[in-house]
Amino acid sequence: MLPYIYLCRKETIFASRGIGLELTKQLLTNLSNVIVATCRNPPGANDLHALKDTAKGTLHIARIDVSDEDSIRDSVKVVEELLGENASIDYLYNNAAINEGNDTAFTFSSAVLMRTIQANVIGPAVMSQCYLHLLEKSQKKTIINITSGLASIGLDLGPKCATYTISKTALNMLAYKQKTERPDFTVIVLDPGWVKTVMGGEGAILEPEESVSNIIRTVTGLKHEDSGKFFQYDGGTIAW
Ligand SMILES: NC(=O)c1ccc[n+]([C@@H]2O[C@H](COP(=O)([O-])OP(=O)(O)OC[C@H]3O[C@@H](n4cnc5c(N)ncnc54)[C@H](OP(=O)(O)O)[C@@H]3O)[C@@H](O)[C@H]2O)c1
Repeated sequence: MLPYIYLCRKETIFASRGIGLELTKQLLTNLSNVIVATCRNPPGANDLHALKDTAKGTLHIARIDVSDEDSIRDSVKVVEELLGENASIDYLYNNAAINEGNDTAFTFSSAVLMRTIQANVIGPAVMSQCYLHLLEKSQKKTIINITSGLASIGLDLGPKCATYTISKTALNMLAYKQKTERPDFTVIVLDPGWVKTVMGGEGAILEPEESVSNIIRTVTGLKHEDSGKFFQYDGGTIAW
């Protein structure tokens, strides 16, 4: 998120580790960026705090647990105070997510599905609702919902990771609904690729640096007519 009115960009990201941490790191190399990086446990987010040592841009850290609606609602006042007068948000990255493991449609646990939907769908949905007024005040009005290529029905990727992919396909529909309700916004879903993080695992193909540098190039290159697209990290598009 960021008001060009101040010649800076303000963004919120979930960022304690993995792709969110790398996104914060790379965005902080730009002097004009103001980042609100959020995580469940700010005092324990050592890697995130360490970014302040080399940051050119401005880093604020705030607490949000996306599985806890109250924590999302409570964060709004905190973020408004961090951003100061005339606060606005140009880019909201809904990045936090969970994947409790590889399961299938006929074997998954309903408790796992409930937790996964709470974190991966309800969390981003409530985030977008609670921060809507700050996005509305910005020039860019952009929501990036980080999804997964596994959530594509068109790619026909088979039975694996049922709960996770059900949640991400629901996130994709959420983005479609957001885009159609607010034609003045730019709302996308974006697959970061298979990335070496805790979630992606060691066998993944991409280093976080490569995924994230491409994500930033793709997002900064977005045009309004791109709203509603299912992007790959490198700017290609994916079948829904
Ligand atoms: N890595 C891949 O190959 C891959 C592929 C496709 C899509 N993705 C997507 O990319 C995004 C980032 O994934 P990643 O690879 O960076 O995963 P990761 O290394 O497992 O990191 C997940 C991040 O989400 C945060 N998080 C989880 N539950 C949360 C909650 N309830 N509230 C707040 N934060 C929470 C974690 O915070 P804590 O440190 O507090 O746990 C952590 O910062 C996710 O949306 C994921 O689905 C990743």
